[in-house]
Amino acid sequence: MKKIEAIIKPFKLEDVKDALVEAGITGMSVYDVKGYGRQQGHSELYRGAEYVVDFLPKIKIDLVVQEDMVDTAISAIVEAAKTGKIGDGKIFVSSLDEVVRIRTEEKGPEAI
Ligand SMILES: Nc1ncnc2c1ncn2[C@@H]1O[C@H](COP(=O)(O)OP(=O)(O)OP(=O)(O)O)[C@@H](O)[C@H]1O
Ligand SMILES: [Mg+2]
Repeated sequence: MKKIEAIIKPFKLEDVKDALVEAGITGMSVYDVKGYGRQQGHSELYRGAEYVVDFLPKIKIDLVVQEDMVDTAISAIVEAAKTGKIGDGKIFVSSLDEVVRIRTEEKGPEAI
């Protein structure tokens, strides 16, 4: 099982959610977050200016999928979230040890 954490522009949330549902993803969590990437929250890097980092509002989406769905999920997110401009976001993928569905006590891929 893999955990996919995607940081996207807030206005792209509906498109990304629709794309993930379309791709067969059965569950996800969404968070309001603030962050910065290489531009440190500025629209351009400026030299000699005061060093100030601005946190910009972003949406974080967590989803856990079986390994054979990782590429599908990533493609769906990228296609829906991309504008081609800076700050489009990032996707992090990591291995996940265990999932438990509380109601049924199913574990592992069955519980996703
Ligand atoms: N290395 C990182 N670790 C954790 N979160 C990150 C990292 N890089 C970016 N983020 C998160 O993703 C958001 C969007 O990052 P962003 O798309 O600006 O990345 P970037 O590397 O600067 O790419 P770009 O040049 O396209 O802007 C940030 O606001 C932050 O929340
Ligand atoms: Mg950036």
